[in-house]
Amino acid sequence: MMSILSLEHVSKSYITDGAPVPALRDVSLVVKRGEFVALVGRSGCGKSTLLNLAGAMDFPTSGKLTLDGVVTSSLGDAELTRIRCNKVGFIFQSFQLLPTLSVVENVELPLMLAGKHDVRETALEKLRWVEMESYAARMPYQLSGGQMQRVAIARALVNSPALLLADEPTGNLDTATGDMILNLLRRVVSEQRTSILMATHSVEAAAMADTVVHMRDGAVATS
Ligand SMILES: Nc1ncnc2c1ncn2[C@@H]1O[C@H](COP(=O)(O)OP(=O)(O)OP(=O)(O)O)[C@@H](O)[C@H]1O
Ligand SMILES: [Mg+2]
Repeated sequence: MMSILSLEHVSKSYITDGAPVPALRDVSLVVKRGEFVALVGRSGCGKSTLLNLAGAMDFPTSGKLTLDGVVTSSLGDAELTRIRCNKVGFIFQSFQLLPTLSVVENVELPLMLAGKHDVRETALEKLRWVEMESYAARMPYQLSGGQMQRVAIARALVNSPALLLADEPTGNLDTATGDMILNLLRRVVSEQRTSILMATHSVEAAAMADTVVHMRDGAVATS
């Protein structure tokens, strides 16, 4: 199986004030195994909506989604949660580390949610990977933005997801730190053969990807 993710004629409307507002219109897209895809386009064009659907965090209004060979668009909540825990890692623009957990506890969380035991060593190994092991006992508020984002990446990778979804992963960072994060993502693709789908406004970030997909008004632009 060549593709880790495929969308076939996927549409998504949100209901706002009782009326459907289209956010995605007939989107078809494939992410191959080991491919790094950047999703670019203006604010509001549907990038986050697409990532949420790809990560089985929301349901499409119509169309078919396949994640690692499983048709997710026809599954119920419980099955989606299981797939999400096992196959997908998320990196959010705002990091979303849990403030009451230490760095290493944040990274352990996906493993605990997946029912794993003896999670400390696996979490520390991923922290080593993003060069944050020496910060394991710190609390998130004691970190810089770039350090938080590296912890968030460690957390997203700790379950060895087949697909990493990144929503503006460098959006809140200075250029040098952003470059470091992008190089890390590149390494994830080459060393772990993880596939990445990354939404970004940044030209530098898009340049790191193998493939750039342009979106406009909820559709994939054929440029
Ligand atoms: N929960 C929601 N309810 C109603 N409308 C929504 C919701 N989430 C997004 N939208 C609308 O769907 C469209 C696509 O939004 P989306 O967040 O996917 O855009 P985006 O490309 O990620 O934008 P940005 O670059 O600003 O993050 C927008 O018009 C937005 O207002
Ligand atoms: Mg967005």
